[in-house]
Amino acid sequence: MAHWLLTVNGKPHEVEAESDMPLLWVLRDLLGLTGTKFSCGEGACGACNVHLDGELIPSCTVSISAASSRKIVTIEGLSSDASHPVQRAWLDEQVSQCGYCQPGQIMAAAALLEKNPEPGDSDIDRVMARTLCRCGSYPRIRKAIHRAAAQGKKA
Ligand code: FES
Ligand code: FES
Repeated sequence: MAHWLLTVNGKPHEVEAESDMPLLWVLRDLLGLTGTKFSCGEGACGACNVHLDGELIPSCTVSISAASSRKIVTIEGLSSDASHPVQRAWLDEQVSQCGYCQPGQIMAAAALLEKNPEPGDSDIDRVMARTLCRCGSYPRIRKAIHRAAAQGKKA
């Protein structure tokens, strides 16, 4: 076991963990940030998406040793009151169905809009297809991203 310092959602944390412990388990089991979901565990579904130094990353694929000196943002850190434009658009468009994939979808959408504030349909579909939704919420995801982008233009 080693001692690690992490910055998650702008707050410092100290944890004890093996160096190869996936960031996903650190977030969920050691820090209680259960908004980030576990599904495939092998980087294929996006349920565990977080932002690492501003880049979208499946947290099941990153070890604590690789994440410890970097800035980590989880779904809980997007906003404290669901006021992030993507979260508001998600509510307005009623995107969620079962909801399991949705934290990962929202983190993917937020990262997309950071890089491309006015994405077209093909940009959205290409990026969002990497985060799997068994309920087929992609048409509403696309609408919500356009809505969030329009809000960003007004802001
Ligand atoms: S649980 Fe991490 S990508 Fe599927
Ligand atoms: S809303 Fe059910 S898996 Fe996406």
